[in-house]
Amino acid sequence: MSKLKTYLAACQQRVEAELDARLPAADILPQTLHQAMRYSVLGGGKRTRPLLTYATGQALGVPESELDAQACAVEFIHVYSLIHDDLPAMDDDDLRRGKPTCHKAFDEATAILAGDALQALAFDVLANDPAIQTDAAARVKMIAALARASGVRGMVGGQAIDLAAVGQALNLPQLENMHIHKTGALIRASVNLAALSKPNIDHDAAKSLDHYAKCIGLAFQVKDDILDVESDTATLGKTPGKDQDRDKPTYPALLGLAGAKQKAQELHSEALASLINFGPEADLLRDLSLYIIERNH
Ligand code: IPE
Ligand code: IPE
Ligand code: MG
Ligand code: MG
Ligand code: MG
Repeated sequence: MSKLKTYLAACQQRVEAELDARLPAADILPQTLHQAMRYSVLGGGKRTRPLLTYATGQALGVPESELDAQACAVEFIHVYSLIHDDLPAMDDDDLRRGKPTCHKAFDEATAILAGDALQALAFDVLANDPAIQTDAAARVKMIAALARASGVRGMVGGQAIDLAAVGQALNLPQLENMHIHKTGALIRASVNLAALSKPNIDHDAAKSLDHYAKCIGLAFQVKDDILDVESDTATLGKTPGKDQDRDKPTYPALLGLAGAKQKAQELHSEALASLINFGPEADLLRDLSLYIIERNH
């Protein structure tokens, strides 16, 4: 894992600079909105989704410089989803990435607008960023993939299921469906945006990568639910124990902690099996799958 750690650190630094360059400056109007966007995007987070975009690029031979815009677009959508997820109308959380949530540091209206603006920025970047080297048709496919992953058939749909499920006893397929949408879809898009950046990608390779991404996307939320039970505020950078407080259906609630960990392990194995036809060029993806289920925050 130490090779991965070095890669993560270097990549996180790259992502930080690329995000910074695409965000509006804090001193131009409307300043409060721009400050809120920068406050929420910069200086925190694991950057798992951009890392997956770059790692998929490595598996396919697409250089990082051709994936910076796609990596930023996914992270912008992710941060918008976190800002809105933390609002009083949703999970009502005070702490995110080790600092006050956007609506606490600013106000609710600013947090709503910062999320809205980040969502628009993500699509602006995919549509216009000169770092993307593909033809226009591939660019349109990227925009479509991110739109699908973000909207009612992806993250937003999953969040709606999540909110409607509070206090409900979901069965396993229903829980899986919720997780696949609210978290899995965007993680899947992180991988698929890199696949769409490879001209004439082999159909089977694209399918294998998509299946890998589906597995780790679900594993990611299973692990998030486990950490909500097992971790502490200092390590997590957000308040643990909130799922149980709010009576949210989760994998640990349904299967117990041991059952949830077993599920995460199975998904990791299935993710690795999806990469069977790839050689060492996909080792980073393999390592990231393990990282997702072994991380402590
Ligand atoms: C938290 O995502 C919300 C989920 C979708 C589970 P991350 O665990 O990726 O949060 P950051 O970006 O590292 O803060
Ligand atoms: C959030 O799931 C998924 C999103 C789309 C943001 P959670 O509500 O469990 O995420 P955390 O635990 O607040 O980060
Ligand atoms: Mg939530
Ligand atoms: Mg939440
Ligand atoms: Mg959670």
